[in-house]
Amino acid sequence: MSVSLVILAAGQGSRMQSDMPKVLHPLAQVPLVLHCMRAGRALDPDHVVVVVGHGADQVEHVVLSEDERAKVVVQAQQLGTAHAVAQAADALSGASGDVVVLYGDTPFISEQTLHALRAARATHDVVVLGFTAADPARYGRLVTAGDTLERIVEFKDATDEERAITLCNSGVICADRAQLFDLVAQVGNDNAASEYYLTDIVALARAQGLSAGVVICPQSETLGINTRAELAAAEAAFQARARMQALENGVAMQAPDTVIFAQDTVIGCDSIIEPYVVFGPGVSVEGGATIRAFSHLEGAHVSRGAVVGPYARLRPGAELAEDVRVGNFVEIKNATLDEGAKVNHLSYVGDADIGARANLGAGTVTCNYDGVFKHHTTIGEGAFIGSSTMLVAPVVVGAHAMTGSGSVITSDVPDGALALGRARQDTKPGLGKRLMDKLRAAKAARVKG
Ligand code: UD1
Ligand code: MG
Repeated sequence: MSVSLVILAAGQGSRMQSDMPKVLHPLAQVPLVLHCMRAGRALDPDHVVVVVGHGADQVEHVVLSEDERAKVVVQAQQLGTAHAVAQAADALSGASGDVVVLYGDTPFISEQTLHALRAARATHDVVVLGFTAADPARYGRLVTAGDTLERIVEFKDATDEERAITLCNSGVICADRAQLFDLVAQVGNDNAASEYYLTDIVALARAQGLSAGVVICPQSETLGINTRAELAAAEAAFQARARMQALENGVAMQAPDTVIFAQDTVIGCDSIIEPYVVFGPGVSVEGGATIRAFSHLEGAHVSRGAVVGPYARLRPGAELAEDVRVGNFVEIKNATLDEGAKVNHLSYVGDADIGARANLGAGTVTCNYDGVFKHHTTIGEGAFIGSSTMLVAPVVVGAHAMTGSGSVITSDVPDGALALGRARQDTKPGLGKRLMDKLRAAKAARVKG
């Protein structure tokens, strides 16, 4: 049966004390709202609708760059979670099957839990995701009778007896699309907060003879972010899990607590990640690669046998083939390095293709930017680039060609050629010592005077 997602992301998140909408704050280097979008992908949804409000344009931009098929609807005034869901009704008017409602500020819902939620629809019309809270605090309470969920009561409206319930509402709900929007349309705002509570649909459903049930997940999955402290705690929880997962997958780390992962980092088994490595978004490292200490990688792919760092920086579009070497204080951006290529020291390689087994000497720079446009550098296989060569792009250095150290290469170098683009050396016998003696004498005279 098909399913659609509705993601609520209109709230301001005033407790973040930020000009940025809450759902755009990064967790594991990815905006919060994308975490639940990515988890929801496990359900293979026909439609994804994101309800935005505060910072609508910014949130829309992030949502659409993740999934251009997503629909973004605006809830101009945040009148409550039921009102938010109602905003998605038109966007889903043609959809069949179920709707799953997720919160944009609740990033840890697992795929497994979402599948369990869907499966429970076989026995209930409305399924709510609940958790047993160690400290139920201000969460909505689930009032049950046997297997049946009778209603949800918000903390503000609950009696002392209801507040004693530890089974809480995560906010995630699943129901048939038509029934959900029908129920949501009946919700009023006669409550302590004068809000339209999505949670009220449970009692409304029961009153109409529909069944409601609970699927329970670990509390850790329902963690919602409201403050910077909660965001930091969520980051710590994410990193702890990611490190443990990497170790279980066969990644070697001497100091896992110093390694920072992104939400989508992929690392193969028998790779070595040395201390203080930071993975930004979009990195994959194949098994058997080594990332040495203090390296920073984002949007990069590292193949088997490659060694990166220490102190290397791989930026988006860095594509390293097998057995490539990228050494200390080297930056690679939007560049492919073919098998066995070496850039070992103090270099910038941007907008370039580097052939197999080419060797770029210390201090090689691709001068890719003229102040307005970016230009490409191509280096053929087996080429040898002398130390401190400036490659002024666009430029092509052929296969097995060489450049002399300190050259400024402004025109193409054919295969097998040697290019020297520097002033010829002029040596004056004895002049070095004579000059030094003269300077020392001048200094001595100055000290005396
Ligand atoms: C909600 C639940 C509560 C549950 C808790 C779990 C209701 C009435 N209450 O309470 O039972 O225990 O979540 O965290 O649903 N939002 C909108 N538009 C609105 C209001 C909210 O988009 O008009 C979004 C928020 O941005 C947020 C989510 O919906 O992502 C939840 O809203 P929030 O105000 O945090 O609800 P809670 O009071 O925490
Ligand atoms: Mg909340």
